[in-house]
Amino acid sequence: MNAPVDEKERFARLEEMGLTPLWRLRTRLQAAGEEGEAKGAHRESSAVAAPTDQALDTPLQKPATAAAASPAPARERPRVQPPRLSSSPVGRRPDHPPVSAPSAPSASASARTVDPERAARIATLDWEALEAEIRACTACPLHRTRTQAVPGVGNRQARWMFVGEGPGREEDRRGEPFVGPAGKLLDAMLFALGLDRTRVYIANAVKCRPPDNRTPTPEEIAACAPFLFRQIELVRPKVLVALGRPAALALLGEEIKIAQARGQIFRYGDIPVVVTYHPAYLLRNPADKAKAWEDLCRARALAEG
Ligand code: URA
Repeated sequence: MNAPVDEKERFARLEEMGLTPLWRLRTRLQAAGEEGEAKGAHRESSAVAAPTDQALDTPLQKPATAAAASPAPARERPRVQPPRLSSSPVGRRPDHPPVSAPSAPSASASARTVDPERAARIATLDWEALEAEIRACTACPLHRTRTQAVPGVGNRQARWMFVGEGPGREEDRRGEPFVGPAGKLLDAMLFALGLDRTRVYIANAVKCRPPDNRTPTPEEIAACAPFLFRQIELVRPKVLVALGRPAALALLGEEIKIAQARGQIFRYGDIPVVVTYHPAYLLRNPADKAKAWEDLCRARALAEG
């Protein structure tokens, strides 16, 4: 069980996420009425879907302005299926759809590089064997430049599973995902949700650091996908959060643009997938933090549902 959230600390973390000024502003403007709200939105940011006090306590936040309302409302997209595997990665439930090949050309190309026998074998591993296999993996060129593979961390029975892109320098050094600057922001996001690393599972699309922190290729993502699929199968989360495009590609088998896809609910088998910005992107584009918060509130509704 977690200790009750300390309000001061929660505020500090929200501040770290860049959310508290908007939060304060909206509270004031809500009291002042619609006109003031519009003015305040203009002044602060075009991404106005800031968390309010209420947003932190209620599952799904209602956009406060026209600008916030413009992203497509959450809707189900049952057509999206996980990438090709020799067997369904989430075939636990009888109504699980058959797994089909991904539709995006790059993902289709990469699917050819995956050995179905290897994927089928990985799909049977327990945690210990899976992590050992990840650490010893040589299935793609990334193993040549890694210090160590970074399997994943957190609660293996979590309702939430976050999927990032791949280890960076610090993660490669320490063997744990999201321990660098982006990880600090991820921790702040978790904290704002009343969560921490003991309550979620965190993994990456690729388990080895791409040289110079470049984006992993679709081939590398495909080679590593059986590991991620097995982790999902073992955790059985209620919601998957894809942090950035490579994570979305790994989970959905299709290339998407976060700005266009956020607001929709995708599916990995029968597990809802919320896509949002990667924390590293948010560090460079803090104005989009409020949008990420909106996405996380949507994920929370799914995790708690
Ligand atoms: N970025 C990621 O996507 N994953 C990590 O583990 C660290 C940074």
